[in-house]
Amino acid sequence: LIPLILVAFVAILAACTPSHDQSTFDTAGPIAKQQADLFIFIFWVAVAIFILVEGALIYSVFRYRSRPDDKIPRQVHGNTRLEITWTIVPAFVLLAIAVPTVKAIYDHATPPTDRGEPLEIVAIGHQWWFEFRYPSLEIVTANELHIPTDRPIVVTLQSQDVIHSFWIPKLAGKLDMVPLNDNVFWFLAERPGMFYGQCAEFCGVAHAHMRFRVFASPEEEFGQWVTAMRTPPDAPEPDSPAALGRTTFLANCSMCHSVDSYRSGGYGDEIAAQDLRWDTLVEQREESPIVSGPNLTHLATRNALAAGVVPLTEENLLKWIQNPASIKHGTRMQANAAVYKTSNNHVDLTDEELGNVVAYLLSLEPGEGGPAEAIPP
Ligand code: CUA
Repeated sequence: LIPLILVAFVAILAACTPSHDQSTFDTAGPIAKQQADLFIFIFWVAVAIFILVEGALIYSVFRYRSRPDDKIPRQVHGNTRLEITWTIVPAFVLLAIAVPTVKAIYDHATPPTDRGEPLEIVAIGHQWWFEFRYPSLEIVTANELHIPTDRPIVVTLQSQDVIHSFWIPKLAGKLDMVPLNDNVFWFLAERPGMFYGQCAEFCGVAHAHMRFRVFASPEEEFGQWVTAMRTPPDAPEPDSPAALGRTTFLANCSMCHSVDSYRSGGYGDEIAAQDLRWDTLVEQREESPIVSGPNLTHLATRNALAAGVVPLTEENLLKWIQNPASIKHGTRMQANAAVYKTSNNHVDLTDEELGNVVAYLLSLEPGEGGPAEAIPP
């Protein structure tokens, strides 16, 4: 048993090392830094109290242990000075912990005014993937959040179904995504890079596989991404696999998946108002019990599939469409598709049709034609 406990202990410690993808100690922004500092401060306070209490306990056990010639010791009842001390000292310790904790909570809620124009993002949790909307840029995407560095990102958290939690260990979090009750917070990336995000509230079967990625890049590079997201793909060559795949996609997949973030908002114009309010939710559910799937705009430019579970490759994409549960147990993809056109939880497409859909999806990248419409300032 002891080796097992040691292995578990080492595994837990390994998860804390800064080199780990989801380490909260390898901070890349002020919010995560403040949270890590607070954790370390409270940790050492707890260590000091642990040593004092356990030390006093061990000392007493040995010093006052039973001896052969023991007599009944002097009986004492009450010690006002001691009782006041052990009430006041812990009160001060709690106060010392509470002040920086409350400050961190308020700092997390209020974006700074001296670090550039904040970028507003709406993040929506779905079972089991993340939707990201950029209201000011009229962009919708899923599972891969692009942000500029050195600029506050103000995130409004929403949920389309159950409670999820938004967490980017190296940048910020955790904060719950609650249906019909927006939570707002901010974070900032001080260095460019890819950061892993994760749903941190148990939300059903595929909770552990509800991941996302954050790509932080300097302002200019972020601007290029914005332009690219608003640039439609080139039309596929007539009769090419991609063109045939497009037809199959429109007939089978487009009820749930939009590939057009720059015009439709991914949910159709009427719902593109960037707000999942009660009436919209009710209307959406009454009209169709199907939960919309992730927006697939420029899928070919993405890094991963199935909300960050596997790398985006032709092979994985084919497997994903053919039998999503083989990649992500519990996924709603097959359940949604089942309503339309499946048998035995497999999409009812021929191998050729599947190959064409994959060819079409992998052709989705910014075309030569430039942005569809002017980019909002
Ligand atoms: Cu969403 Cu856990």
